Order: sequence, then C-alpha cells, then structure tokens
Amino acid sequence: MRALSLSASLSVCASLFLMGCGGESTPAPAPDATPEAAPEAPPAPEAAPEVPEVDWATLDDAGKKKHLMALGKVIYETGGKGGLACVTCHQADGKGTPGAFPPLVGQKEHMGDCAKHAGIVLNGLTGEIVVDGVKYNGVMVPMKDLLDDLSIAAVMTFERNSWGNDYGDCMPETVAEVRKLAE
Ligand code: HEC
Repeated sequence: MRALSLSASLSVCASLFLMGCGGESTPAPAPDATPEAAPEAPPAPEAAPEVPEVDWATLDDAGKKKHLMALGKVIYETGGKGGLACVTCHQADGKGTPGAFPPLVGQKEHMGDCAKHAGIVLNGLTGEIVVDGVKYNGVMVPMKDLLDDLSIAAVMTFERNSWGNDYGDCMPETVAEVRKLAE
C-alpha cells in the first residue's frame, strides 16, 4: 500500500516537474528529495451517499414517499447531517439487540401512530419499556436538535416500511406539530 502510494505520488511529481509543476511561481520539487520525506497522500474522502435535492412542495404523494424512503435510509444508516445513525443501536435488520436496544420490527404499538412515533424520535425515550416480552431500560437519544422535520419524517417512514413493517408514511408537517407541543 505504502509502496503503491509512494510510486503514485512520485509519478505525479515527475509529471508536474516536466510541466514545470503547474506554474512559474511553484518551485519544482528538489530532484534529490528522498522518497521517505514525501508526505503521505491523504486518503480520498469516502463518498457520502447523496439523496438528490427536491422541491418538496411540488412533489406528488408518490414522489414524497420515494424521497422520504431514500432520505430515510441514509439517515438510518449514517445519521445524515448531524444526526445519530439509528443502525448503530437498532441494527441493519431493525431487530436491535435484545435487552439493550429494542427492535423496530413489528412495533405497531410504538410506531403505528405518526404522532407517537414522532414523539419518540424527537424527544427520545427513557425508562422501562417491554418490547416483544423483553424489558428495556435504556436511553433513546432525543433527535430534535440534531435532525430537521423532513429528516425525521424520512427516517420514520423508512422504519415504518422496512423489514416487513407496513405502517404507512409520516409527513414533516406532523413532525412539526409534535415538535411544537414539546416546546
Ligand atoms: C444510542 C443508541 C440509539 C440510537 C442511535 C437510536 N436509538 Fe432508538 N432506542 C434506543 C433505546 C435504548 C430505546 C429504548 C429506550 C427505553 O428503554 O426506554 C430506543 C427506542 C426507540 C423506539 C421505540 C421503541 C421501539 O422498539 O419501537 C423507536 C421508534 C426508536 N428508538 C427509533 C430510533 C430512530 C428513528 C433512530 C435514529 C434517528 C434511533 N432510534 C436511534 C437506542 C437508540
């Protein structure tokens, strides 16, 4: 790996040298520079999954759902811009970790109603709950300061329609109403 990146940077240097390193003002690399002194090239930034920007107000119902699902998947897996990745605790299959992080699969009681579901994601959850007969007494981090209404509606819609769940969509307007109640 090191040998590869060294030879890559050497050949870049060599071609820059031939071209005068891109300009009169740039000093050419000293020909006797030892390879050991060459700085390691920084790793290429990992491509963050991108969801195309949309004009929400102009989307029809099918377009909204499609956008919520695509954005929700990114939020679930990465936390999006500033949130916490739900996958860390609730796992990629939504089954959580028994005794520590509750499953999101088959949880109509918590997630069937948009407002109730939004309340959990916005305001977090603490204290003992029983899910599928297993007790949980953990801390679900409030997301209200980390994610906007659209992102929260998106991750909720993703959870509600993944892993066999079929609980319908939730819209950002509902999240906004629940957010206001808690203020
Ligand atoms: C740091 C770990 C952690 C992260 C990250 C996390 N959760 Fe949770 N979540 C929990 C815990 C713990 C509970 C149960 C809290 C309790 O015991 O009262 C919970 C409960 C829930 C519940 C209600 C219980 C159920 O099983 O239906 C929902 C819904 C939920 N989380 C959704 C999310 C969403 C959406 C995200 C990402 C935006 C997320 N969680 C991120 C730890 C986490």
